[in-house]
Amino acid sequence: MFSWLEKNPFFFTVAFLVPFSIAGLVEIVPEFAQASRPTEGLKPYSMLETAGRQVYIKDSCNACHSQLVRPFKSETDRYGMYSLSGEYAYDRPFLWGSKRTGPDLHRVGDYRTTDWHENHMWDPESVVPGSIMPAYKHMFSNSVDIDTAYAEAYTQKVVFGMPYDTPNGVALGSYEEAKALIYDEAKAIVADMKNQDVKDALARGEIKEIVALIAYLNSLSNERRVAQ
Ligand code: HEC
Repeated sequence: MFSWLEKNPFFFTVAFLVPFSIAGLVEIVPEFAQASRPTEGLKPYSMLETAGRQVYIKDSCNACHSQLVRPFKSETDRYGMYSLSGEYAYDRPFLWGSKRTGPDLHRVGDYRTTDWHENHMWDPESVVPGSIMPAYKHMFSNSVDIDTAYAEAYTQKVVFGMPYDTPNGVALGSYEEAKALIYDEAKAIVADMKNQDVKDALARGEIKEIVALIAYLNSLSNERRVAQ
C-alpha cells in the first residue's frame, strides 16, 4: 500500500518528519512553560544586590565558593535548609560553583552580618585566624557601576519577565527612580559599617563596591528567599 512512498525519497522524508516533529513539540513545549518555577515569596535582586552580584562575578568569588547546600545532615547542620531548585529562578547566570575552597555561601546572610563582612573582606585573618581567603581592599575604593546594574535589572524585567515593579516583586522604575532606590539601600548598609572613606564617598554620591557586595551577601538568606 505504501510502496510508492518508499520509492519516492522526497515524500518519504516529509511523511517521516511531520509526525516526528509533532511528537518532538509535544515533548518540548510543556518544558518551556515550566522553565522557571520560583519558590513561593521569592523576589528578584534589588538594584544594589544586582550591582553586588556583578562584583561577585567580576572578582570570581564563585571560583572558591559554591551556592548550593546539599541535602546532607553535615551540610544542613552547618549552613541551614538545603537549597531548592526554585530558589535559582531569578539567578541568571546561576552561581552554583563547582569547587569549595571556602564554605558554601547560599545561606550566608542568615549567620553573617554587615560588619562581619566588612572586617572579613578588608582582612580575612582579622576575623578568621589562619584564613587563606585573599583580602579585597580594592572594593573599598572602587565605585559601583550603577548604569550596568540598571541595564541588567531592566533587561531581566523586559526580556525574561522577572517580577520587577509588580505588587509582590521588587521596585525598579525609571532610571532616575532606580538611582534613588539604590542610594537608599546603600545608606542602610553603610549605617552598619565603620570605614570612613566608604561613608564619605556615599555622602558625595558614590557607592563603593563593598557596599553592594555586602547587600548581595546579606540577600543570600533562607529567610528572604523561601516563604516560611
Ligand atoms: C582563593 C579562594 C577564595 C576566593 C577567590 C574567595 N574566597 Fe571567600 N573564603 C575562602 C576560604 C578558604 C574561606 C574560609 C576562611 C574564612 O572564613 O576566611 C572563605 C570564607 C568566606 C566567607 C565566610 C563564610 C562563612 O560561612 O564563614 C565569605 C562570606 C566569603 N568567603 C566571601 C567571599 C567573597 C564575596 C569572595 C569574592 C569577592 C570570596 N569569598 C572569594 C576562599 C576564597
